[in-house]
Amino acid sequence: MKVLVVGTGAREHAIADALKDDVELYCYMSKVNPGISQIAKYKQGNEGEVEKVVEYAKENEIDIVFIGPEAPLEKGIVDELEKNGIKCVGPTKSAARIETDKSFMRKLFEDYEIEGSLVYKVFDNSGDVSKFLDEFDRDVVVKPVGLTGGKGVKIVGDHLKNNEEAKQYSCEVIDNVMGGFAQVIIEERLIGEEFTIQAFCDGKNLAPMPAVQDHPHAFEGDNGAITGGMGSYSDFGGLLPFLSQENYDKAVTIMKNTLTAIASEAEPYKGILYGQFMLTSDGPRLIEYNARFGDPEAMNVLPLLKTPLIDICKSIVDGTLGTVEFIDKASVCKYIVPDGYPETQYAGELIEVDEKSIEKIGAKVFYAAVGLEDDGIHLSSSRALGIVASGNNISQAEKIVEMACEFVKGNVYHRRDVGTEELVNKRVEHMKEILN
Ligand code: GLY
Repeated sequence: MKVLVVGTGAREHAIADALKDDVELYCYMSKVNPGISQIAKYKQGNEGEVEKVVEYAKENEIDIVFIGPEAPLEKGIVDELEKNGIKCVGPTKSAARIETDKSFMRKLFEDYEIEGSLVYKVFDNSGDVSKFLDEFDRDVVVKPVGLTGGKGVKIVGDHLKNNEEAKQYSCEVIDNVMGGFAQVIIEERLIGEEFTIQAFCDGKNLAPMPAVQDHPHAFEGDNGAITGGMGSYSDFGGLLPFLSQENYDKAVTIMKNTLTAIASEAEPYKGILYGQFMLTSDGPRLIEYNARFGDPEAMNVLPLLKTPLIDICKSIVDGTLGTVEFIDKASVCKYIVPDGYPETQYAGELIEVDEKSIEKIGAKVFYAAVGLEDDGIHLSSSRALGIVASGNNISQAEKIVEMACEFVKGNVYHRRDVGTEELVNKRVEHMKEILN
């Protein structure tokens, strides 16, 4: 079979890696990914130029297209490919609104009485948001509307001192000072521990993957700006040290009910559904959905797949998705980023990645936003590469990753605390306090 992966980053590298032994692999990517270019035929081009991707897929008689990032989904890439008779792992534009239109998502919860939602409101006017925040009696989270890659989110008690500061920030966003987001969503701030469940979906059936916890803050100790994610871990048994089977199952039920609701309101949802949850004293509550794999979360689960990814892709497009099996191990992923990230002065610098030594100790490299030039791999201003390992427990996997990180040289940084016993125990204790 011929499979085309659309996308450039570490998430797409992990998807391509999971397919490479079973298919003739192609990739359409905006920059040459040093890992994908070793295992796939490829074309360099903007992934958002839907017509060009369709043309490339037709020229190469592709059987299935796997869409990595959300931006082409919002542009209707799946609709266009399907019009041309090409099957896709990814939702249509209308179904992808579960990510691209947060008010559509919250309204589904209301209309279909799906449990696990939260108090939220969308504003496009500074007067209204100010009035709301003057009267709201709980701390809030401010989210610019639209696809911002998780950036721009600010939380009271974290980046913002109080709702007064939330008001100022919301007005700046609405008035375009922050770069053109005309609307903000204000959500109640949930207290608990965040976790992610990703699921394969064929329109009506859903096969969930092991739960993962990401670390969005840039610096150790959960300090600094919120980024796309600095690293993540999963545990054996598919749960997390603070997440019980009962709460995992509740979260999966929320996702199943959402899948049914989307099929009634939009079109059957085919592809990957990413649920980001907060485990609270009331159980799991849905923070947001993404219409694609998480990054870095894809790197935790894809290397653990026992069921071949190509078989899953075929069953997604045919509507015959069954159980998906995973190797029962823990995993840790750490992102290597330029020093100072997200505000770095090292974009463009050369780094050394000793991939052979990394693989020798049992870890894997997935390349993200780096440039491949004649003299080697260059940093950009974003996350450079993910290093992943599995183990019998989180701590074992973490130690392998930490050793592997030593084989990347340059002006780079990674969060040493991701997956350490100390930080994982802190999460467990935090959850215990909330539940008691
Ligand atoms: N790690 C967060 C995301 O992929 O959206």
